[in-house]
Amino acid sequence: MRGFSIDSLKLGPMENFIYLIHDHDSQRTAVVDPAWEPQRIVERARELGVTITDILLTHSHHDHINGIEAVLDQYDAPIHLLKEEARFWGADIGRPVLHHGGDTLMLGSTPIRILHTPGHTPGSACFHVGDRLIAGDTLFVYGCGRCDLRGGDPNQMFDTLRKLRADLPPDTVILPGHDYAVSPVSSLAEQEQGNPFMLIDDRQDFIEYRMHLHDRCRHEPYGPEDRDALIRMIHSGRCN
Ligand SMILES: [Fe+2]
Repeated sequence: MRGFSIDSLKLGPMENFIYLIHDHDSQRTAVVDPAWEPQRIVERARELGVTITDILLTHSHHDHINGIEAVLDQYDAPIHLLKEEARFWGADIGRPVLHHGGDTLMLGSTPIRILHTPGHTPGSACFHVGDRLIAGDTLFVYGCGRCDLRGGDPNQMFDTLRKLRADLPPDTVILPGHDYAVSPVSSLAEQEQGNPFMLIDDRQDFIEYRMHLHDRCRHEPYGPEDRDALIRMIHSGRCN
């Protein structure tokens, strides 16, 4: 077993991260959320000397999928996503491979565990590979995905983030879907210490902050927050 590597590209006006998971045994390579500049994804695959064999989607928002067609022009690759997301999306994407939360997709010798993490969209997924979590728009470094778009639900996001904390080891490396923060990657332990969405323990406080205060009061790049200051802000309804 020769392991795997994960490569990232930052592409497009919303600073999306696109990831390539490369299984060294089989040379199979999956691209996660191909978007914006697909020719650069293809170039990177060529530089690495690999063929893209699979397309994985964390969710169906335009900024994560708008490079699928161009990748498919170059490679034959099945599209993998959660059944809930395919239903929510409703697009005709040929014959996708539909998964359920908890499934493991084998990329050659590399297991990719598919976690169902609703909140940003009903069928959002995170991909757990080794000690890495490709988190899409579920968990950002010091942030989380919006819950006010169609299909979003802050109640579900609250539960999803609690479950990730409970289920994953603290040294898990978080690979987010956008570069919104002071650093492009972080550990789950670091997020437990400073991510506001992990610091707020009360469900109603969480919903209030996610839906009403966060976008008004917080600016990029996101950095660590202080729990007491957050709670003061939520209870006063005013930005600190
Ligand atoms: Fe999104």
